[in-house]
Amino acid sequence: MKRALVLLLSLSVVAQATSVAEVKKKGVLVLGTDPTFAPFEFRGADGQFQGFDIDIARAVAKDLGVKLEVRPVGFGALMPQSVTSGRVDMALSAITITPERAKIVSFSAPYYRSAQVFIVKSGNPQKFGWPWNSGMKGKVIGVQANTTGQYVANDLLKPRGATIKVYDDFAAGLADVRAGRIAALIGDAPTVTDLQKRLPGQFQQAGSDLAAEDYGMVFRKNSDLVAAANKTLARLKASGEYQNLLNKWIVQK
Ligand code: ARG
Repeated sequence: MKRALVLLLSLSVVAQATSVAEVKKKGVLVLGTDPTFAPFEFRGADGQFQGFDIDIARAVAKDLGVKLEVRPVGFGALMPQSVTSGRVDMALSAITITPERAKIVSFSAPYYRSAQVFIVKSGNPQKFGWPWNSGMKGKVIGVQANTTGQYVANDLLKPRGATIKVYDDFAAGLADVRAGRIAALIGDAPTVTDLQKRLPGQFQQAGSDLAAEDYGMVFRKNSDLVAAANKTLARLKASGEYQNLLNKWIVQK
């Protein structure tokens, strides 16, 4: 009870701008993101945040006439506490639109069609395939905490005998795949193609996609920033900039 009260108080103290007027007043749009998820959000060799989501967020800030401030947050804290508390004005982090999440935060229009897939070590001799009947028995499958990958694993893989290992950090899960400590990590499809580009010969997708999903930009419930973000998205699509961003970050060359 006491702890809940302290939490409530600290939340209300840090609650900040979440409306167009407030963002314009302070002159910055604070983006929350978990930057371990290339090509959507990651740190470049120079330490700067970059990726498809970062560029989209930058365009939203530009249209609002404010600066973008990128605040790195672990995915489990980002979705949804950082948003609901108002500590960030918006979140872009390859976040899948789901009906459960839409009850507590507001989503923009979908901006990217993605899928959940198995990421395994390249040349992994273990036979993976989907759907399985018994192939999951005794296998340890990694997921990132609070992600749709975790939900899919609990729904589909656990009942088939898999043990689910939960990581706060996506990169830690990848390290365990590489070291052979887990059979596979569930991740979003474009992360695999990106890994293959940056770290050739180390990772591959196994089996077919587990679930198709759409990403949305995330805001505090009913914020008018949703409409602003949708306007920017429509502008990017109409001008061809959206396609340029796809080519820059995601489309395989
Ligand atoms: N698309 C998945 C979800 O919304 C995973 C997102 C993970 N993003 C990240 N930056 N680590 O749950």
